[in-house]
Amino acid sequence: MKNKILSALGSHPWAEALIWHNSIDSTNDEAKRLAAAGAPHGTVILAGHQSKGRGRIGRTFHSPEGKGVYCSVILRPQCKPEDLMHLTCAVGVAMCDAVEAVCGVRPGIKWINDLVLGNRKLGGILTELALDADGSVRYAVVGVGINCSHTQYDFPEELREIATSLEMATEKTADQAQLSAEIIKAFTETDKHLLRGKYGIMDRYRADCITIGKDIVVHTSQESFRGTALDVDPDGALVVRSDNGRIQAVQSGEVSVRGLYGYCQ
Ligand code: BTN
Repeated sequence: MKNKILSALGSHPWAEALIWHNSIDSTNDEAKRLAAAGAPHGTVILAGHQSKGRGRIGRTFHSPEGKGVYCSVILRPQCKPEDLMHLTCAVGVAMCDAVEAVCGVRPGIKWINDLVLGNRKLGGILTELALDADGSVRYAVVGVGINCSHTQYDFPEELREIATSLEMATEKTADQAQLSAEIIKAFTETDKHLLRGKYGIMDRYRADCITIGKDIVVHTSQESFRGTALDVDPDGALVVRSDNGRIQAVQSGEVSVRGLYGYCQ
């Protein structure tokens, strides 16, 4: 697989530092180990299988062998963490670009980090930061998982009504090497504009974000409340008008969107 990805990538600046594992615990965990040991900006880790694939909020990302693209990238932007509030959103747009380039369909994004096709979860993004003693960013690890060739039986029972794959949604086989190469190219494009192009990136995120305009339930660590998603602000926070009329920016937590993932109350 590594050779196929390299040949689809051509002479790309990140090709040299590309690392492939047939199986690993989590490409994000491996990226963090390598970053802590000094691996440079643009180190890409891909795996054919993850035994401990992770998602946001301590969730598991089911990563069966040969069925998906599991990829993490080490970034070393010279900035403060507050300058990277939009990083997950930026990578979300980039992943929509990559899927569209290979499969001809553009996923939507369920705030903040889920890729969605046909009202089901196609994949996700997990962003993790490490800071230096002075509070600046030491490194960022951004991991992307995209379900490619799963049938519904490749998902555990609790995900069968919620998750999809490119093959299930398009009825075509996605070329995983080509998708991996497009993911890496899309990462580099985002990386070029990440710090200076935030407002343009967030305009594109709003266009892809299917949560905006929907009736939702917000679940934070403190509370759950119903409301309407109005917007996503430049730092990636979801602007919500709760049913009692209060408008607030939700920075973290989870939202249920009516009509998505089987949520219909
Ligand atoms: C989510 O659904 O909340 C995010 C899922 C992110 C999964 C990817 S797969 C590659 C990388 N390694 C991980 O352990 N997680 C990310």
